[in-house]
Amino acid sequence: MTTLDYATEVIPETDLLSRVAELGEAITHDFRGRDPLFVIMLNGSVPFGADLVRRVDLPAEVDFLGLNRFGGGGRIGIAMDLSTPVLDRNVILIEDIIDTGLTLTVLRRMMTDRGAATVSTAALLDKTRRRVTDVPVEYRGFEVGDEYLVGYGLDWRGLYRNLRSVWAVLDQDVFATRTDFLAATLSARG
Ligand code: IMP
Repeated sequence: MTTLDYATEVIPETDLLSRVAELGEAITHDFRGRDPLFVIMLNGSVPFGADLVRRVDLPAEVDFLGLNRFGGGGRIGIAMDLSTPVLDRNVILIEDIIDTGLTLTVLRRMMTDRGAATVSTAALLDKTRRRVTDVPVEYRGFEVGDEYLVGYGLDWRGLYRNLRSVWAVLDQDVFATRTDFLAATLSARG
């Protein structure tokens, strides 16, 4: 793993992909006979979601949901709604990272209110120490610390979602000035 003076690689690509495969196996096992509807949260969960659904060996549907966040406190609106009805479906929400848990709490309630038969969550990363509300996460990839993370879907001001591994930002002020971060990640990959 590579360490720069302002960021460090915390989860390499191989670890991400092998953990995602394990989550896919667990979902395949648990949902046999009750085909899931995957809801991939835009935009951050697209890389994780694309890898995860390809590790689930069941007939499954995939849809996308985009949210707008208003300030703190978990107030959210719908920027892009699902095109699939969730009534009587076994919904699996696919989230990149759970922080306070407020977004996930609202989302789960939204699916229940729409009549989903069951609602589960697959989250790649979980900042468990920052949780302010108790919300279940049935499939969790990695527990992580408090650092700001980028890569594999996670962004910094819209950038770096396309990195293949997950990096922690060590110094946000320095990071904001480093236009050579992408080049550094590429040379770390070799
Ligand atoms: P929550 O409602 O506080 O759980 O917020 C979860 C959302 O915050 C995620 O879907 C991300 O969009 C964002 N988020 C939280 N931590 C990070 C991070 O370290 N990097 C990038 N986005 C993050």
